[in-house]
Amino acid sequence: MSEGHIEVKGLRKEYGELIAVDGIDFTVRKGQVFSLLGPNGAGKTTTVEILECLRTPSAGEVRILGMGLEQSSKIKRRVGVLPQGFNAFDRLTVKENVDYFAGMFDDPVDTEELLRWVKLEKRKKELFKNLSGGMKQRVGIAMSLVNDPEIVFLDEPTTGLDPGARRDVWRMVQGLRDQGKTVLLTTHYMEEAEALSDYICIMNKGRIICRGTPREIINEHGADPVAIVKAAGDKGLEALIGRFPDCSLMEDNLKVPIHNSRRIADILNILDDAEVHYDEVIIKKSTLEDVFLKLTGEELRGGEEDEE
Ligand SMILES: Nc1ncnc2c1ncn2[C@@H]1O[C@H](COP(=O)(O)OP(=O)(O)O)[C@@H](O)[C@H]1O
Ligand SMILES: [Mg+2]
Repeated sequence: MSEGHIEVKGLRKEYGELIAVDGIDFTVRKGQVFSLLGPNGAGKTTTVEILECLRTPSAGEVRILGMGLEQSSKIKRRVGVLPQGFNAFDRLTVKENVDYFAGMFDDPVDTEELLRWVKLEKRKKELFKNLSGGMKQRVGIAMSLVNDPEIVFLDEPTTGLDPGARRDVWRMVQGLRDQGKTVLLTTHYMEEAEALSDYICIMNKGRIICRGTPREIINEHGADPVAIVKAAGDKGLEALIGRFPDCSLMEDNLKVPIHNSRRIADILNILDDAEVHYDEVIIKKSTLEDVFLKLTGEELRGGEEDEE
């Protein structure tokens, strides 16, 4: 165990009878955005909090930057943490909160510059409690970076944020990657994992059920792409149904699996010959959500739903 920034072998965590993490192995390489993707209760937070030296494992080996968990105070100096459901001191300003954390380290970064980086320089004198959810999350990201960490742990950084605020966080994750930092992200949003990650482990019930780059996972476990023909109220779809017995009809949309690209031309020709008036023909690839559904028979959805 040496090459990765994070090395995990046979990691297990039990809470009484409950096995929250059930023997997992993975390696995170320097400079990667690595995601643990899975529904609520999968064991993501337990896993990252062990790596952050906040919880102790029941069994298994962990190395962070080449160090074992017994060197927790050294590890903590070189990693940054945005915990799930992050909150700061409500009655302190943005700058005061960030300065407070920076003050815990011997050689902190310039917090003015950090606040510019998370686009909060104009808000630095506002009380934390008066910020929007997205701004609060950016304060949390700033706090995780005060010690210029080599590894940043972001546990569900976008849960509960609106789409705009979510994109802001995505840009920051990409910015961290551009700076060469290693990012360990947890999320239950498949499109987030797909958009940001160099490598993904999909977790369910304490185990890693599949792993790879987003493309590898979809290529290995995804189904064929489908052509979706939207032809509201047109009866001409019968021609397609007759020709492709493996198609399925959902309301006014016909789904045709695309085993090979010739089928796309066939579909368009049949629509043309039958003079079908269609609104759209969309070719849709499998997503990570389809993969998760196939592997577990369950939807990749959290119990708590998005607010704001
Ligand atoms: N401190 C704890 N004590 C007891 N059970 C816990 C504790 N933390 C988490 N769990 C349980 O462990 C399982 C995994 O939880 P968690 O690691 O938070 O998953 P995730 O972050 O993927 O939602 C869940 O069943 C959860 O209820
Ligand atoms: Mg969690």
